[in-house]
Amino acid sequence: MHSNDTLDPPDWPAFRAQAHAMLDDMLDYTQHIRTRPVWQPLPATLPSLFQQSLPQHGQPLNELHRRFMDDILPYAIGNAHPGFMGWVQGGGTPLGMIAEMLAAGLNANVGGREQAPIAVERQILHWMRELFDFPATAQGLFVTGTSIANFIAVVIARTRFLGQQVRERGLTDQKLTAYASAGAHGCVAKAMDMAGFGTAALRKIPVNARFQIDLAKLSEQIRSDRDAGYQPFLIVGSAGTVDVGAIDDLGALADLVEAQQCWFHIDGAYGALGMLSPAIAPRLKGIERAASIAFDFHKWGQVPYDAGYILVRDGSDQLASFAAPAHYLQRETRGMSAGSPWPCDLGPDLSRGFRALKTWFTIAGFGAEKLGQIIHHTCELATCLEAGIVQEPRLELLAPVNLNIVCFRYTGYGNLKNMTVKQANALNNEIVIRLQESGLVAPSSTMLGEQFAIRAAIVNHRSTRVDIDNLLLQVLQTGDALFAHHH
Ligand SMILES: Cc1ncc(COP(=O)(O)O)c(C=O)c1O
Repeated sequence: MHSNDTLDPPDWPAFRAQAHAMLDDMLDYTQHIRTRPVWQPLPATLPSLFQQSLPQHGQPLNELHRRFMDDILPYAIGNAHPGFMGWVQGGGTPLGMIAEMLAAGLNANVGGREQAPIAVERQILHWMRELFDFPATAQGLFVTGTSIANFIAVVIARTRFLGQQVRERGLTDQKLTAYASAGAHGCVAKAMDMAGFGTAALRKIPVNARFQIDLAKLSEQIRSDRDAGYQPFLIVGSAGTVDVGAIDDLGALADLVEAQQCWFHIDGAYGALGMLSPAIAPRLKGIERAASIAFDFHKWGQVPYDAGYILVRDGSDQLASFAAPAHYLQRETRGMSAGSPWPCDLGPDLSRGFRALKTWFTIAGFGAEKLGQIIHHTCELATCLEAGIVQEPRLELLAPVNLNIVCFRYTGYGNLKNMTVKQANALNNEIVIRLQESGLVAPSSTMLGEQFAIRAAIVNHRSTRVDIDNLLLQVLQTGDALFAHHH
């Protein structure tokens, strides 16, 4: 090894040419994504390509690039594709992609210290305070996703309820309980688990006909828990449930939380950014009363993965839960160690990437109005899909369409009535798998009670009416073919 050896390119002009080719490939990919399959099964040989032993010597960049183009890019899950309607995943944008490249080039560690990337992250906080009508004392933090944002909220609620000594002594014999609707995302229970309460300490409250938390049953559960010596400390509202996109009655929930003196957290993983749309914002009324909100820019916000966020009304609660002074993280009023508090004082991470940059580019580049229109458009497409289902005798709508998620099933011309629930579920499951394998359009699925539902979550800004019509057509054709085969 020579003393001037580094990991930088030995031949910068050659590297530059290769880098430009790589950028062009990704721009081509995005521009022409509609011509590709949404997803395709992985070739049987693919896993073995990535089970090789540790390479002792480097391979040329053009060779690695070729491998990416041949062996990785075609076999991604396809959430950038307009025909992708599985789960709740954003589509990303070319703008976000190049911003991510700038962030990677800068290689900023945004855990703390006096640096512009933190000012950018604070700009996002400023915008989120404005969007959710939170006070100037609010704090916030980029995290991987809502799963971790919910976890952070549970920890803050715990510290607020038990006082800071819990950070030193841990949980002892307190019987703390939390509450969320039965439709709440599984990561809320996981957060209770990770925070040491256990998943059983999360009471799952039944939902009403609109899939919202049943407030009477919530009050009843809280009363019986208090009678049994439990201490309710946290109530989690849902702003857009993962299965059906239900929004709890957040205003009424806020009243109840206030009366119970609990922490009011809202899981708004994708729904919270509905605030960007004047058509959707009124339905989120009450969100401005939350103590904390967890949400993702990588879903409806179309920021490339990952970009989750936790917003906390009273920033001092967040600091009190996570700040942990250390002499190697000494703060100053001048020099590189100025600018306290730092992001590392607001969550579990010390080293963290510059997620704020792609978010800043996205919001500044498109503007709130355009992003709100995109969000609203996905809801309009869901309404189109709902109408198509209701008009079609071979299809049955399985849940009210609240936002952008549509749950339905194929029934044939009432023929499914001659099938057992198990057979009907199996048939619909097969439809979903065949559609995914076709690469034409890709819904996912869920269970609503006993019934298997084909679930279309329209999140991607690239999806259009064509994709909705295609989904309807493909479900019907596949269902008819399977049904004919069944008989
Ligand atoms: C309502 C809800 N909460 C939480 C999550 C988890 O978010 P993430 O995947 O960003 O961790 C999701 C994901 O779809 C969600 O829909």
